[in-house]
Amino acid sequence: METMTVPGTAVLPTLRIRQATAVDAAALAIFAARTFEETYGKDNRPEDLALHLATAFGPRQQAAELADPHVVTLLAHCDGQLAAYAQVRRAVPPPCVAGRAPIELHRLYIDRPWHGRGVSQRLLAEVRTVAAVQFGGATLWLKVWERNARAIAFYAKSAFVDVGVADYFVGTDRQTDRVLVSTLAGSAPPP
Ligand SMILES: CC(C)(COP(=O)(O)OP(=O)(O)OC[C@H]1O[C@@H](n2cnc3c(N)ncnc32)[C@H](O)[C@@H]1OP(=O)(O)O)[C@@H](O)C(=O)NCCC(=O)NCCS
Repeated sequence: METMTVPGTAVLPTLRIRQATAVDAAALAIFAARTFEETYGKDNRPEDLALHLATAFGPRQQAAELADPHVVTLLAHCDGQLAAYAQVRRAVPPPCVAGRAPIELHRLYIDRPWHGRGVSQRLLAEVRTVAAVQFGGATLWLKVWERNARAIAFYAKSAFVDVGVADYFVGTDRQTDRVLVSTLAGSAPPP
């Protein structure tokens, strides 16, 4: 889909972003579970984390998501290595999302070595394109844990605004997510 050079690296790698297919299920399952655990593992009870990993990730779960026409998964490879992924989907938003034609950014995970190096911005740009062009969206919305300060800072500088809260369960633990929205550029005006 896209090839670019990542700034700020001594040896400049090539970033390639493409849509995932069924053959990516196994690699995606491993990457998704690892990056979730690295992000939230230290702030959750091991039993809740284990329950969440068992239900949200795994080759069968990822294969089902990859086969779902209402879900698009984007993979970003740096020099051939999987460095990040994002998932965009049609989903019913929480009531605080009032924007027209809402599309959810369900997941955005950059591997730690690539944090702060521009991969997130490039992947988010592709997410916006998929949401607007492929899904006909006018509003991009997402949920982010209220304690995920880095992600909240990233979304704030990426034109998202906070519109409310929603529950999120990690295992049996009910947590509070902030709900953020961003208008999709180039979306068609309302009829
Ligand atoms: C969230 C994520 C996508 C952001 O991508 P990134 O490349 O790390 O983002 P950036 O470095 O461009 O921006 C992060 C900002 O947060 C700031 N920041 C870092 N740690 C912070 C903290 N503890 N509190 C507040 N701000 C923080 C950074 O300084 C930076 O702001 P700046 O550019 O003004 O300096 C990436 O960190 C990631 O994948 N994290 C793990 C998974 C995750 O949390 N996904 C989001 C789920 S909703």
